[in-house]
Amino acid sequence: MPVDIKGREMIAPRLLAHYDRHRRTLPWRAHPGATVDPYAVWLSEIMLQQTTVAAVTPRFARFLTRWPTLADLAQADEADVMAEWAGLGYYSRARNLIACARLVTEQYGGMLPDNEAALRKLPGIGDYTAAAIAAIAFGQRAVVVDANIERVVARLFAIDAPLPSGKKAIRAAADAITPDSRAGDFAQGLMDLGASICTVRDPQCMLCPLRDGCAGFAAGNPARYPVKAAKKAKPERCGTAYWIERDGQVALVTRPPHGLFGGMRSFPDDGWRAGADGDGVPPIVADWQVARRAVRHGFTHFWIELDLALCIEFSADMEEVTWWPIDRLEDAGLPTLFAKAATRFKEMRHAA
Ligand code: ADE
Repeated sequence: MPVDIKGREMIAPRLLAHYDRHRRTLPWRAHPGATVDPYAVWLSEIMLQQTTVAAVTPRFARFLTRWPTLADLAQADEADVMAEWAGLGYYSRARNLIACARLVTEQYGGMLPDNEAALRKLPGIGDYTAAAIAAIAFGQRAVVVDANIERVVARLFAIDAPLPSGKKAIRAAADAITPDSRAGDFAQGLMDLGASICTVRDPQCMLCPLRDGCAGFAAGNPARYPVKAAKKAKPERCGTAYWIERDGQVALVTRPPHGLFGGMRSFPDDGWRAGADGDGVPPIVADWQVARRAVRHGFTHFWIELDLALCIEFSADMEEVTWWPIDRLEDAGLPTLFAKAATRFKEMRHAA
């Protein structure tokens, strides 16, 4: 797959000039000339790993108000951080965030390291995030490749190798066009281009500052790139969540620290997970009211369909549960799947 990089030296100056005029105003971006806060850049990059800019924007502001510095976050109560993360999904990000803040406090005197190699060793920081922080927060030359950049670069060079194996060629091409200075602005300029002009469907090539050098445009069908290998269907799992109610309170469990929803609160369940259906065995003997397949939710690697089982007149005690007031259930920090289940459970209660 030879990548034709003729005219590549024009790409960065054109893109940076476009970025200077059209950059999106986003809360984690420093204004031109202002000092960048590495903590804010790190937090934003972790939040943006699997979540859209629109969803992250209000949550980022709230998080920073609550923990304005890395030192504040290092001292935070883990359960508070997990609850603040509720609804953003991929909760290992929040656990890693705390672990990283604590480690940086101990090992680096509270200052994030400024280079890609050292950043890469920190909890929750992979290749992409290390490069993004090094470039955006510390002005280092680093090759940043996220999904938007991958698409833009695949089109610029009409890279035919299907993803995921095409990633190597895309990275090499991104490396070839990354400038020595302003690599952070360059990366964010490519992200903005991918979000606004070089979109997945229907790219607006007439507005694109890189159109002249774009092999995908020249070939007549830029939306064809990046080429993707056929996807395997995700497995379908099923399981049960249980609503056990006593005196205006409902039983919640705190999940083990690792694995799906690690450290989060949830309803008791029947042991379903990515690799297996639930066993259908309830945590207590009771007269259950059941709604079959009442909630469906997609994870990266599988789908889950939950049966919901309700018992509203439980009188005994239960070990290892927290009795949570039903009228304050929004404050429990339930992950989205269980927040959906809670809404359905409440409908079942009213109908009961
Ligand atoms: N997605 C990930 N990082 C981003 C950034 N810095 N700006 C816009 N979108 C992003």
